[in-house]
Amino acid sequence: MSSLKMLLRIALVVAASFARSAEPPASAGEPLARGTYLVTVAGCNDCHTPMKMTPEGPKPDMDRMLSGHPETLVMTAAPTLPPGPWLMTAAVTNTAFAGPWGVSFTANLTPDRETGLGKWTVRNFSETIRTGRHLGRGREILPPMPIPMYKNFTDADLAAIFTYLQSIPAVKNRVPDPRPPAAALASAGS
Ligand code: HEC
Repeated sequence: MSSLKMLLRIALVVAASFARSAEPPASAGEPLARGTYLVTVAGCNDCHTPMKMTPEGPKPDMDRMLSGHPETLVMTAAPTLPPGPWLMTAAVTNTAFAGPWGVSFTANLTPDRETGLGKWTVRNFSETIRTGRHLGRGREILPPMPIPMYKNFTDADLAAIFTYLQSIPAVKNRVPDPRPPAAALASAGS
């Protein structure tokens, strides 16, 4: 091989190793950057940021980023499912879901102290995700919150996600309590 070709090959190998170092933050890395990355790819915005209609179809409304089901959007009684293999219905914002568990409304994950996670500690957050119970000991977290998957996050990842959530703009928005399944309502009334 000519020495020119050899030099070219070395240059390519060096360039490739620089390109690799520009990849997204790995598991170590700085918690805020790692948390931003995890919240993005784990799709928290899909359910916790209200969708708004745009000419290109529904998109998350980033002015209300991660603030949960909007308190102003009062949901009517859950529709009856059509016959066939249907499980649930979703609000136009993709923040409220009716299914066999009743109606669930996505939580406000912003650092607002009254209506969001502003008073939570990282421990409150980790225990909620790990146990699937509010604050690790309260009521069970309902579908479609992907607890069965998210409880596999490492402690460092959960801490990074919480760091990011506490860094975003606080939005005051009081999310309604979940509603029990229609069957439970009917037997309570009888
Ligand atoms: C498929 C929809 C969906 C996705 C994706 C989703 N969530 Fe949720 N989440 C929900 C719903 C619905 C609730 C409310 C459940 C309830 O009221 O029991 C919820 C509740 C929560 C709660 C509980 C709040 C409390 O007060 O107990 C936390 C914390 C949370 N989500 C964080 C996250 C984070 C962080 C992500 C991304 C890593 C995420 N969620 C992704 C639907 C989702």
